[in-house]
Amino acid sequence: MNSMQLLPESASVFASQLDLFFWVMVVLCGAVATGIAAFVIYSAVRYHRVRENELPPQNQGDLRLEAAWTITPLIIFIGMFGWGAKLYFDIERAPNDALDVWVIGKQWMWKVQYADGQREINSLHVPVGQAVKLTMTSQDVIHSFFIPAFRIKQDVLPGRYTEIWFRATKPGQYHLFCAEYCGTKHSGMIGWVYAMEPAEYRNWQQQGAAEGSLASTGEKLFHQFGCANCHHFDDQGQCPNLRNLYGRTVLLASGDTVIADAPYIRESVLEPKAKVVAGFEPLMPTFQGMLTEEQIIALIAYIRSLGPPAGGETPASSGSAPRTGTKGIGAAGSTSINETVPGKK
Ligand code: CUA
Repeated sequence: MNSMQLLPESASVFASQLDLFFWVMVVLCGAVATGIAAFVIYSAVRYHRVRENELPPQNQGDLRLEAAWTITPLIIFIGMFGWGAKLYFDIERAPNDALDVWVIGKQWMWKVQYADGQREINSLHVPVGQAVKLTMTSQDVIHSFFIPAFRIKQDVLPGRYTEIWFRATKPGQYHLFCAEYCGTKHSGMIGWVYAMEPAEYRNWQQQGAAEGSLASTGEKLFHQFGCANCHHFDDQGQCPNLRNLYGRTVLLASGDTVIADAPYIRESVLEPKAKVVAGFEPLMPTFQGMLTEEQIIALIAYIRSLGPPAGGETPASSGSAPRTGTKGIGAAGSTSINETVPGKK
């Protein structure tokens, strides 16, 4: 890297891929623009009018030439579109083995919550080489989570989960910004990402998490808020069985289906009547205003821990909670549309 840095440091898989794409675009578009400008200037000089009453010779054109200058750019730029679209889909879809981390934006800090119970503010520790998926929400206004060295940026919205993922390639310390003006101290809503070698990361991980895993916090809340009084883990009760719910397709009373992912569970807790499960009465009260974003996240982690885990494995003791792709498609447990598990009302 030379002293005049055109781009931020590159420390993720996307960073090198996007930089390559960016430079190819710059060179290609630069070459086209330069070529057109040069031809305009050349033609103006070469074919300018010499005599006052001069008429240009009539030219009927050349089909092959016209076809060539139409088809060649078409192929080149459709190719660029295809390449860009592939990068976009890669960035939008987290791999199934990604480490799950929750992020809550708040005026003016980033709260980070790990599945094993660790928490931090304005810093994020991640292992190098491992995919990390962030599920993010805001407890007030719109923020935007931005790590320039990883080339990722995602709006963080109140009342909704957004996701972003990355795979760090180089150990180090990288800037973390809020990239959406969110009030007086927006410029102070910054922090650091620490990309660590896996062994070092495990070390760091073992130092924290005194309070137990996120799912165990969720389990306590599940009893504290009385969810357990109705949601028994069998199919007898008046409330849907939450075991093996996460990631499954749920048939609703309206006849529609929905994937039981984090956004669905969040909505079901806050607006229980929005998507009532087929075969159940809309009995559940709303928990709007009673739960913090952290508590909702813990409840989701608990319901996720009830299965089914991706690939049918038991969750490891630390780090990765049992998980399936929250997008549902292609995730374990979402393959059979007929297999409908009652969700939360
Ligand atoms: Cu948060 Cu700007």
